Amino acid sequence: MLRGSMERTFAMIKPDGVRRGLTSEILARIQRKGYRVVGLKQMVITRETAEAHYGEHSERPFFGELVDFITGGPVVAIALEGENAIAGWRSMMGATNPASAAPGTIRADFATTMGENVTHGSDSSESAARELGLFFAQGELLD
Ligand code: RTP
Ligand code: MG
Repeated sequence: MLRGSMERTFAMIKPDGVRRGLTSEILARIQRKGYRVVGLKQMVITRETAEAHYGEHSERPFFGELVDFITGGPVVAIALEGENAIAGWRSMMGATNPASAAPGTIRADFATTMGENVTHGSDSSESAARELGLFFAQGELLD
């Protein structure tokens, strides 16, 4: 069988998704796809963690709103493992703006606005390593 590379990535159900009761639907999609959930916790993100997580956007005009939103209620932090999981999970989420997201993706199916787009996914192997380290201690993840 032809295989890609085994990767770990960081996924998050954002406060809008948790508040709307979409946690089980999103976890079901992840597991039906065949990704292995190696870390999972519901938590409230501190401002400090949010600012570090979205540090690449610190100079953007929407940064304050983004940090307010992501710290405004519990999120579900998820560590995923699978073949090409970084790009694969991004493709399951769909485009950042739900209005442009392909039908069948999470953002197309469950969101209408860019500010509340239900899920997050790391955008590169560097981001995945950084974000997994920010949200999970080594002992919290399955081997
Ligand atoms: P995420 O990091 O949350 O997974 O989203 P993403 O990679 O698809 O998009 P990114 O460019 O990293 O933006 C992070 C979040 O900021 C909000 N955003 N607003 N008003 C705007 O122009 C704008 N651009 C981005 C979105 O909520 C996006 O998910
Ligand atoms: Mg991003």
